[in-house]
Amino acid sequence: MENIRIVAGREAYVPPGGPPRVERPSDAIYAAMGEEAIVAMMEAFYAELAQSPTLRRMFPQTPEALVRAAHRSAAFFIGIMGGPPLYQQMYGNPAMRARHMPFPIDEAARREWLRCFNVVLAIAPARFNFPPEHMPGFQAFLDGFSGWMVNTAPPNPEEAA
Ligand code: HEM
Repeated sequence: MENIRIVAGREAYVPPGGPPRVERPSDAIYAAMGEEAIVAMMEAFYAELAQSPTLRRMFPQTPEALVRAAHRSAAFFIGIMGGPPLYQQMYGNPAMRARHMPFPIDEAARREWLRCFNVVLAIAPARFNFPPEHMPGFQAFLDGFSGWMVNTAPPNPEEAA
Protein backbone atom coordinates (compact mmCIF):
# COMPACT_ATOMS: atom_id res chain seq x y z
CA MET A 1 0.00 0.00 0.00
CA GLU A 2 1.40 3.38 -0.90
CA ASN A 3 0.51 4.98 2.44
CA ILE A 4 2.69 2.56 4.40
CA ARG A 5 6.41 3.10 5.00
CA ILE A 6 8.79 1.32 7.33
CA VAL A 7 9.97 3.73 10.02
CA ALA A 8 11.84 2.78 13.20
CA GLY A 9 11.00 -0.87 12.85
CA ARG A 10 7.29 -0.57 12.33
CA GLU A 11 5.01 0.33 9.48
CA ALA A 12 4.25 4.05 9.59
CA TYR A 13 1.19 5.43 7.97
CA VAL A 14 1.66 8.54 5.86
CA PRO A 15 -1.43 10.78 5.77
CA PRO A 16 -2.72 11.02 2.19
CA GLY A 17 -2.37 14.83 2.20
CA GLY A 18 1.40 14.64 2.83
CA PRO A 19 3.21 17.37 4.79
CA PRO A 20 0.91 20.17 5.92
CA ARG A 21 0.82 23.47 4.13
CA VAL A 22 -0.23 25.46 7.16
CA GLU A 23 0.39 29.05 8.03
CA ARG A 24 2.19 29.76 11.27
CA PRO A 25 -0.07 31.40 13.86
CA SER A 26 0.24 35.17 14.29
CA ASP A 27 3.24 36.55 16.22
CA ALA A 28 0.72 38.80 17.97
CA ILE A 29 -0.29 35.83 20.13
CA TYR A 30 3.05 35.71 21.95
CA ALA A 31 3.11 39.51 22.09
CA ALA A 32 -0.23 39.50 23.90
CA MET A 33 0.27 36.47 26.15
CA GLY A 34 3.98 36.27 26.94
CA GLU A 35 5.87 33.21 28.02
CA GLU A 36 4.28 32.61 31.41
CA ALA A 37 0.70 32.50 30.13
CA ILE A 38 1.62 30.17 27.25
CA VAL A 39 3.30 27.79 29.71
CA ALA A 40 0.20 27.93 31.95
CA MET A 41 -2.05 27.25 28.95
CA MET A 42 0.01 24.20 27.95
CA GLU A 43 -0.09 22.90 31.53
CA ALA A 44 -3.89 23.18 31.36
CA PHE A 45 -3.88 21.37 28.01
CA TYR A 46 -1.75 18.51 29.33
CA ALA A 47 -4.02 18.25 32.40
CA GLU A 48 -6.89 17.83 29.93
CA LEU A 49 -4.98 15.18 27.95
CA ALA A 50 -4.32 13.32 31.20
CA GLN A 51 -8.08 13.08 31.71
CA SER A 52 -8.86 11.84 28.24
CA PRO A 53 -10.06 8.23 28.42
CA THR A 54 -8.44 7.39 25.08
CA LEU A 55 -5.23 9.48 25.23
CA ARG A 56 -4.15 9.45 28.84
CA ARG A 57 -2.19 6.22 28.48
CA MET A 58 -0.06 7.87 25.78
CA PHE A 59 1.11 10.66 28.09
CA PRO A 60 3.32 10.56 31.20
CA GLN A 61 1.66 8.96 34.21
CA THR A 62 3.05 11.02 37.09
CA PRO A 63 2.08 14.67 37.68
CA GLU A 64 5.74 15.72 37.65
CA ALA A 65 6.51 14.01 34.34
CA LEU A 66 3.28 15.39 32.85
CA VAL A 67 4.30 18.95 33.75
CA ARG A 68 7.76 18.37 32.26
CA ALA A 69 6.09 17.17 29.04
CA ALA A 70 3.81 20.23 29.05
CA HIS A 71 6.89 22.44 29.33
CA ARG A 72 8.58 20.78 26.35
CA SER A 73 5.46 21.44 24.30
CA ALA A 74 5.25 25.00 25.65
CA ALA A 75 8.81 25.67 24.47
CA PHE A 76 7.71 24.74 20.95
CA PHE A 77 4.45 26.70 21.05
CA ILE A 78 6.20 29.82 22.37
CA GLY A 79 8.32 29.85 19.21
CA ILE A 80 5.40 29.08 16.92
CA MET A 81 3.37 31.94 18.45
CA GLY A 82 6.08 34.53 17.82
CA GLY A 83 8.39 34.16 20.82
CA PRO A 84 12.03 33.05 21.00
CA PRO A 85 12.95 29.64 19.47
CA LEU A 86 13.23 27.96 22.88
CA TYR A 87 12.49 24.48 21.61
CA GLN A 88 15.32 24.54 19.06
CA GLN A 89 17.68 26.00 21.66
CA MET A 90 16.88 23.29 24.20
CA TYR A 91 16.18 20.21 22.09
CA GLY A 92 17.47 20.90 18.57
CA ASN A 93 15.63 20.32 15.32
CA PRO A 94 11.90 20.06 16.10
CA ALA A 95 11.29 17.28 13.49
CA MET A 96 7.85 16.92 15.03
CA ARG A 97 6.57 14.08 12.90
CA ALA A 98 9.66 12.02 13.71
CA ARG A 99 9.41 12.81 17.43
CA HIS A 100 5.79 11.60 17.45
CA MET A 101 6.65 8.35 15.69
CA PRO A 102 7.02 6.30 18.91
CA PHE A 103 3.33 6.99 19.64
CA PRO A 104 0.66 5.33 17.51
CA ILE A 105 -1.42 8.35 16.45
CA ASP A 106 -4.42 7.65 14.24
CA GLU A 107 -7.11 10.04 13.05
CA ALA A 108 -9.30 9.33 16.09
CA ALA A 109 -6.39 10.16 18.44
CA ARG A 110 -5.76 13.37 16.51
CA ARG A 111 -9.39 14.41 16.87
CA GLU A 112 -9.36 13.68 20.58
CA TRP A 113 -6.12 15.70 20.96
CA LEU A 114 -7.80 18.62 19.18
CA ARG A 115 -10.90 18.27 21.37
CA CYS A 116 -8.72 18.53 24.50
CA PHE A 117 -6.96 21.60 23.08
CA ASN A 118 -10.31 23.19 22.26
CA VAL A 119 -11.54 22.74 25.85
CA VAL A 120 -8.61 24.89 26.96
CA LEU A 121 -8.88 27.36 24.07
CA ALA A 122 -12.50 28.04 25.03
CA ILE A 123 -11.31 29.63 28.28
CA ALA A 124 -7.93 30.87 26.98
CA PRO A 125 -8.93 34.48 26.17
CA ALA A 126 -10.26 35.02 29.71
CA ARG A 127 -7.74 32.88 31.58
CA PHE A 128 -4.52 33.23 29.59
CA ASN A 129 -5.02 36.49 27.70
CA PHE A 130 -5.17 34.67 24.34
CA PRO A 131 -6.11 37.35 21.75
CA PRO A 132 -9.50 36.14 20.44
CA GLU A 133 -9.01 37.70 17.01
CA HIS A 134 -6.14 35.25 16.42
CA MET A 135 -8.07 32.18 17.59
CA PRO A 136 -9.28 31.10 14.10
CA GLY A 137 -5.72 31.27 12.71
CA PHE A 138 -4.36 29.30 15.66
CA GLN A 139 -7.03 26.62 15.35
CA ALA A 140 -6.38 26.35 11.62
CA PHE A 141 -2.70 25.76 12.41
CA LEU A 142 -3.51 23.05 14.97
CA ASP A 143 -5.94 21.40 12.60
CA GLY A 144 -3.48 21.32 9.70
CA PHE A 145 -0.29 20.53 11.59
CA SER A 146 -1.85 17.78 13.71
CA GLY A 147 -2.78 15.99 10.49
CA TRP A 148 0.92 15.52 9.85
CA MET A 149 1.41 13.85 13.27
CA VAL A 150 -0.89 10.99 12.20
CA ASN A 151 1.32 7.93 11.70
CA THR A 152 -1.14 5.07 12.10
CA ALA A 153 -3.84 3.97 9.70
CA PRO A 154 -7.41 4.01 10.97
CA PRO A 155 -8.76 0.59 11.96
CA ASN A 156 -11.37 1.14 9.29
CA PRO A 157 -10.11 3.20 6.29
CA GLU A 158 -13.49 4.93 5.83
CA GLU A 159 -13.05 6.52 9.26
CA ALA A 160 -10.35 8.91 8.06
CA ALA A 161 -12.51 10.29 5.28
C1 HEM B 1 -0.31 20.68 16.11
C2 HEM B 1 0.06 19.42 16.35
C3 HEM B 1 1.06 19.03 17.42
C4 HEM B 1 2.12 19.73 17.91
C5 HEM B 1 2.61 21.11 17.51
C6 HEM B 1 2.75 18.89 18.92
C7 HEM B 1 3.85 19.24 19.65
C8 HEM B 1 4.51 18.43 20.52
C9 HEM B 1 5.74 18.75 21.18
C10 HEM B 1 6.53 20.04 21.00
C11 HEM B 1 6.08 17.70 21.95
C12 HEM B 1 7.33 17.55 22.83
C13 HEM B 1 8.36 16.76 22.11
C14 HEM B 1 9.57 16.52 23.00
O1 HEM B 1 9.48 15.69 23.92
O2 HEM B 1 10.61 17.16 22.80
C15 HEM B 1 5.04 16.71 21.81
C16 HEM B 1 5.02 15.50 22.46
C17 HEM B 1 4.00 14.60 22.36
N1 HEM B 1 2.89 14.70 21.58
FE1 HEM B 1 2.46 16.19 20.31
N2 HEM B 1 2.05 17.71 19.03
C18 HEM B 1 1.02 17.74 18.12
C19 HEM B 1 0.07 16.77 17.92
C20 HEM B 1 -0.05 15.64 18.66
C21 HEM B 1 -1.12 14.67 18.53
C22 HEM B 1 -2.28 14.78 17.53
C23 HEM B 1 -0.88 13.69 19.46
C24 HEM B 1 -1.64 12.45 19.79
C25 HEM B 1 -2.92 12.35 19.72
C26 HEM B 1 0.34 14.04 20.16
C27 HEM B 1 0.93 13.29 21.15
C28 HEM B 1 2.12 13.59 21.76
C29 HEM B 1 2.77 12.73 22.73
C30 HEM B 1 2.26 11.39 23.23
C31 HEM B 1 3.95 13.37 23.12
C32 HEM B 1 4.99 12.89 24.13
C33 HEM B 1 4.65 13.36 25.50
C34 HEM B 1 5.79 13.10 26.42
O3 HEM B 1 6.68 13.94 26.52
O4 HEM B 1 5.83 12.05 27.04
N3 HEM B 1 0.81 15.23 19.66
N4 HEM B 1 4.10 17.18 20.93
